[in-house]
This record gives sequence, C-alpha cells and structure tokens, in this order.
Amino acid sequence: MKDSAEKFISELLGRMTLEEKIGQLNQPQGGENINPEDIRSGKVGSLIKSAGALPGKEKSGSLGVEQANQLQQYALESRLKIPLIIGRDVIHGCRTIFPIPLAQAASFDPELAEKASSIAAQEASACGIKWTFAPMLDIARDPRWGRVAEGNGEDPFLGARMAVALVKGFQGEDMSEENKIVACAKHYVGYGSAEGGRDYENGEISEPTLRDIYLPPFKSAVQAGVGTVMSAFLDLNGTPATANHRLLSEILRGEWGFEGFVVSDWTSITELIQHGVAEDKAEAAAKALQAGVDMDMCSQAYMDTLVENLQAGKVSEQEINDATRRVLRIKQQAGLFTHPFTDPARFAREVLTGESRQLARQFAQASMVLLKNNDSILPLKDFHKILVAGDFVHARGELYGTWSLDGVDEDCVAFDQALTQVSPKNTQFWFASDPDQALDYALEAEVIVLLLGEHPSRSGENANISDLSLPAGQARLVDLMITLGKPVILVIFAGRPLVLTRQVQQADAVIFAWHPGIEGAAALGEVLFGAASPGGHLPITFPRATGQVPIYYNHKNSGRPVTPGGWFNSRYIDLPSSPLFPFGYGLSYTSFEYNNMRLSHEIMRDSLSIQAEVTNIGSRAGRELVQLYVRDLVGSLTRPVRQLKGFQHLELQPGETQCVSFKLTEEMLAFTRADGTFDVEPGRFNVWIAPNSASGLRAEFRL
Ligand code: NOJ
Repeated sequence: MKDSAEKFISELLGRMTLEEKIGQLNQPQGGENINPEDIRSGKVGSLIKSAGALPGKEKSGSLGVEQANQLQQYALESRLKIPLIIGRDVIHGCRTIFPIPLAQAASFDPELAEKASSIAAQEASACGIKWTFAPMLDIARDPRWGRVAEGNGEDPFLGARMAVALVKGFQGEDMSEENKIVACAKHYVGYGSAEGGRDYENGEISEPTLRDIYLPPFKSAVQAGVGTVMSAFLDLNGTPATANHRLLSEILRGEWGFEGFVVSDWTSITELIQHGVAEDKAEAAAKALQAGVDMDMCSQAYMDTLVENLQAGKVSEQEINDATRRVLRIKQQAGLFTHPFTDPARFAREVLTGESRQLARQFAQASMVLLKNNDSILPLKDFHKILVAGDFVHARGELYGTWSLDGVDEDCVAFDQALTQVSPKNTQFWFASDPDQALDYALEAEVIVLLLGEHPSRSGENANISDLSLPAGQARLVDLMITLGKPVILVIFAGRPLVLTRQVQQADAVIFAWHPGIEGAAALGEVLFGAASPGGHLPITFPRATGQVPIYYNHKNSGRPVTPGGWFNSRYIDLPSSPLFPFGYGLSYTSFEYNNMRLSHEIMRDSLSIQAEVTNIGSRAGRELVQLYVRDLVGSLTRPVRQLKGFQHLELQPGETQCVSFKLTEEMLAFTRADGTFDVEPGRFNVWIAPNSASGLRAEFRL
C-alpha cells in the first residue's frame, strides 16, 4: 500500500514542471479572492480559508461546501489534476463548539478530547475542509500570553496524552475516510516561551528544557501519525523556528521519522526578514525551504522566488522535489486524489447533531473546575430565589472562546433559558447585567450567582495582558454583592488563569468554567443544581498575583528553596510563595481520602507498581482524578520538584474504597542530560499519589 502510494507520487512528480512543483508548496488565503486561473494553472497547492465565516454560516446554509467543491473543480481542470488541500482553523469544534483547548485539558480526559475532535473533523469535512491547523501543542507557563487558551497548559505529560487523543480524533485510523481530516501539530516549537507573555516574542530555552518540556507533545503527535506540522513564529535561541534546520529536519524528520509535511505559520517565511536572518524574500524562502518548511502559508515567497533561487544555486531541485513529495504524500493519504469533492448532503446530517451537543455539554462539565465550595453550598439546594448577575448574564457566543470561526451565536442557549430549564420547578430567577439592577434584585434574592470573566476577545492570538485581574468593574461588583451578606457563588469564564485571590476569599463557592462552548449555559446549570458535577482539574498553575508569573509546578528547587518561616530563600516579600491554586487542583461535590500507599519494591528494576487506597468520604457519588508524581532527588542536572507521570479517574460511591495502581517504568524517569543523552540515573526518587501537585501521599524508592 505504502509502496504503491510512493510509486504513484514518484510518477506524478516525474511529470511535473518546476512551476507546478512550486505551486504545490504555495498556500494563499482563499477563496473568493482567488483567481480560478491561478488554480487551473497549478500555482496553488492549498488554500487557507481563514478569517471570517465560511459562506453560508447563516443557519440555512452548508458552510461553504459548494465553494470548496468549486475550488476543487478548478484544481481538477489543471494539467495534472492535482487536488487542493483546503485548510481552516477548526480548533475546538467547527459548528458544535466544544470547550477551549485549555479547558479540554482540564478534564484530564483524553477520551473526551478524542471524541470531540472527531466530531470537529466530521463537521469540518462536511463543510469541504480537509485539514485543520490543530492541535496546538505549545506548553505555556505564562498566562499573560493570550494563546495559553489554545493549548493544554503547562505539563508535558498531559500535553502529550492530549496530543495523541486530538490527532486520533481528527485523523482517525485512516484520514482518507470522508469524515476525517488531516491534523497539524503547531506551533513547532517553543512558541509558548515568548518573553513577557507577548505573542510573537522571542524565546530562550535550554536544550534539556526544550527536550523534556516543550518537545514531548510534538513527539507524541508524530508517533500518533500527525500528517502535518506548523513551524512557529518565534525566534528560538537565535534561530527563528521557520528557518531552523535542526528542529525541522534533524529532530522532527531525522530523529522522529516524520514523513508528513511542514507548513509555515502565516507569513512566517517573509518575517525572517524582520527577524534579521534574511536580506530579502528570496533569502527568506531559501532559508525556510532548506530548514525543512515545505509549504508557504501566505508569504507568496516560494511562488515568487524559488525559480530564481534554484537558478542562482541557492536551493536545489532535490529540495524542491522533497518538499513537493511530502505535500503530495499527505494529499494522497487524505484521499484527495480519489475523493476531491464533498457531498453537500452530509451537512444536514452531520453538522450540529443531538449527539454533538450532548458531548459538548458533558465535556464542558468535565472541564469546569470547582475551586472552592464552603459548607458544600453547591450544588444549590433549598434556594428558591436566585439572582444571576454579571457581564456574562446574556452571553451566548461569548461562551465560545477564541477560535470559533464557525460558531453561530443563535446555536447557543442563553443562561436565562438554560437555567430555568434545569432548575427545580419552584425556582425564581432574576437576571441582571448592570450593578444597579443587580443590587435591586439582590435584596430579595436568597443566593447570588455572579457570572464574570473575560470576553473571548481578551483571549487567544495576540490577546496578551499585563494584569491577570478580572476585567474592569467586575471586582467591584463582587465587593458590592458581598456587602449584602448573602451567599455568593462565583462563576468565571476565561481563556487563561486569572488572579482571583481576593474573590476566592470573598465568595462561598467558585467555579472556573473557562470558555465552555455551545452547551456552556446548560452545562453550568446542571452543575449548579447538581444534575452533574464539575470534573475539571487545573492544567496550569493559578498565581496569586500577576507578578508571580511565571509560576509552574514542575520547577527546579533552587539552592535556597522555600521553607516555611525561612528568610533568605526564594520568595517575594509581599506574597506567599505558593500559588493560589496548584496544577492538578480541583474539588468535587464529595470528598476523598487517600490511604495506604504501597510500592511493589523499594528498589526499581525496570518497573515498579505503586498503589494507594482512595475512599469517598462524602455523601455523594463522585469521580476523583488520582495523579502520580515523581521527583528525582539527585541528578547530574537539577531536576523538577515534581513531575506528573500518570493520572486515572476513579468513580466512587459514598463510603466506597478503591485501590488505584500505577506502573512506573525506568524509561519514565529518563531525562536529557548536559551531554545531550537521554537516560536514567540511579539514585533516590520520591513518588506521590496525589489529588494535585502540592499534596498527596509520598514514598521513596531507589533505582
Ligand atoms: C496564525 C496562527 O499563529 C496559527 O495558529 C493559525 O493556524 C494561522 N494563523 C492560520 O490562521
């Protein structure tokens, strides 16, 4: 199969002119603006349908299938009839908008993520889109960076697990199936390290940190068969990622055996000029191609300069052939040569179904993080008069979050309707978006639910902020409501960790709901009234103040680590050293107790089994996320104070105890050393079975 595909590609390549090959490497933005003649003459290998809605976004239409088919038709009128691959940013759902990626990571549930991305693939493909620019696999330790919303948070182990799930969901076993699309692991690599949390900024990452923190999700995506990879905008350690031969050719292709193609990010090829590593467009194109970027997104640099570069000996024919082959290979694997068109009838059947909405609701609940729940005030019971106030009271599309190009506001049920539907019959609600109105109603209400947080436009690409507090006016509303002395439930919608130090003290309960997607309102309603439980755990540390950033759980120890009451050690004099909430944190509607931790051996040879008993000591059934952490106590390089190495969900009835068991292998303890080798070092290790990264049962073993 593979041989015959390669043979087909070789034959095709043999028939292509230089211009046709370069055309395959060219991805303009399209398409109303596209001149059909450019496609017919083989100058376009791919189109990115980017900004704005696809035509037909109106409820009646099918999201641009006719247009996609028309564009494909032009391609089939070209001399060699090579189909286009049409891409779009389908990031956390197409029409059915799921929780933002960071929220998906908070579920710690790769299975749900796989199902959601599989639905996204089904809907996108029904709209004529065969390629998505997802998953975004950037490790992010700085919540000021707006794009923290798009990834899986700060941890490489969780990031790698999510990467595999998302790639499988989008691509399935066989991406030529009509309801599957090609995935793109982005932004390769280190993009989340942008200095100061400012998007597009440069990053400096040491080799061990690059290898052990930033690269693992990408490596896992490659192992899972991801079809494409996008090179990042940033300058990493002095070489922009789009011109980085070592990253793209030596590591990605050489070490990991990636056979798909690499696409640049939007104009990141010509940006090599601004970075100051290329004199002009031609040099930028030559550097990118030689580094290993196969397709040029929107720079037009390959199109305009590769012929001249070849004539000048700046690039070789072999390099152009290799890039073209990789693009054709993915087109072939995606089934585009055999099935270039999309059946318009699929739209009505496959887009926004009862099943997709149901999954969106379940996923939103699994990702909501219960940060505080004094006296088990949640789920709400025995309250009949409820005030719902705050900036999100009338939210619909605002619940979608960043990157929801094809979400339609009217698909989203608003809170007034959703809460009324899921609450007990005799509940009276008031909904108020302005403080005066809220105050009026609050006097009569028995409980106040505040829906606050950041608008999606304050999250996502280049939506960086220097102050992680709630948006203007919201803290004052909380202050105001607190003065009434009634119970206050805070629900926060956001694309990043926010600084909630004061509000967490003030409120009786806090749910961090992220941007939860199309079913966000009903999902929250069911959580508030107890038909569902909030299942999320933080995939990223929550700081007490913006100045604490970067703060992440898997940091190194320093020579003067924080000790209680310690003086000359690593700290701020105006803040406790701990975060507001650690990585992995999340409460549930019941409580769990961890006991009897046991190791199969005190000395590890190849592997070790680690067990503990977890008991539901509350009065409701519940689901606990049990986490496994290790620490390598002494190494040739300093080692993180904890590293996540496993997690499992347990479903426990009240009073029930279950034994949880993890297997730790020697390989899981390996790390990148100063000489570049990746290996384990014998010695002492700590291991925890824990409900989050800052607590748990601990034991020690030796390797
Ligand atoms: C730029 C973004 O960095 C990238 O994530 C996205 O896929 C492309 N634009 C295409 O829209």
